[in-house]
Amino acid sequence: MLERHIVLRDGEKVLIRSLRPDDATLYPDFLAEVTADDLRLRFFVPMREASHDLIDKLIHYDPEHAMAFIAISEVSGRMLGVVRLHDDVDGDGGEFAILLRSHLKGHGLGWLLMKHMIVYAQEKGLQTVHGQVLAENATMLQMCAELGFHVADDNEPGLKVVTLPLDEPLQSITAH
Ligand SMILES: CC(C)(COP(=O)(O)OP(=O)(O)OC[C@H]1O[C@@H](n2cnc3c(N)ncnc32)[C@H](O)[C@@H]1OP(=O)(O)O)[C@@H](O)C(=O)NCCC(=O)NCCS
Repeated sequence: MLERHIVLRDGEKVLIRSLRPDDATLYPDFLAEVTADDLRLRFFVPMREASHDLIDKLIHYDPEHAMAFIAISEVSGRMLGVVRLHDDVDGDGGEFAILLRSHLKGHGLGWLLMKHMIVYAQEKGLQTVHGQVLAENATMLQMCAELGFHVADDNEPGLKVVTLPLDEPLQSITAH
């Protein structure tokens, strides 16, 4: 489950595996092809580029309480996307976040990374996965709704919270 080979709609062969500290070398090339707008959709604040400190934090997560999966092109070895899941401090849930190389959006990789993260969370025994999404992020909200997430207003204005209960069979997950 931690590692999986997939093929995107356009035929690109992709390896999904857990993110390792030595993947820090892949991040600069990846982030160079993530637009400022996509960085804002992911981190909710305008940023021209992710700082060294931020990359360091993203790479060095505590595997006891968090997991991150990286998607890598089997041909070029380049990083194509990443999804992460951090256990809630209280309760049995986990919070996810996802980011793709911008020109790869719409090829089905986001969907597959989300499914990979959800199945991992279910096997880990989490009760829910949830995430914060900007209200303007129609693609993400639609994808989450199709994956079976409930969408609600967040306490913070301009944000939605999407929540997927994991205590029932995931029909929308297994159907594709
Ligand atoms: C949001 C994001 C992760 C979506 O990833 P993506 O690869 O572009 O999305 P996908 O191509 O997998 O899915 C998008 C579309 O395909 C659908 N889809 C994809 N695979 C599918 C499948 N196997 N079965 C059914 N529907 C599928 C999605 O519902 C959606 O529908 P549409 O093409 O009709 O619009 C990506 O756009 C991104 O990185 N955005 C910037 C960062 C961000 O917004 N992060 C979210 C905050 S946590």
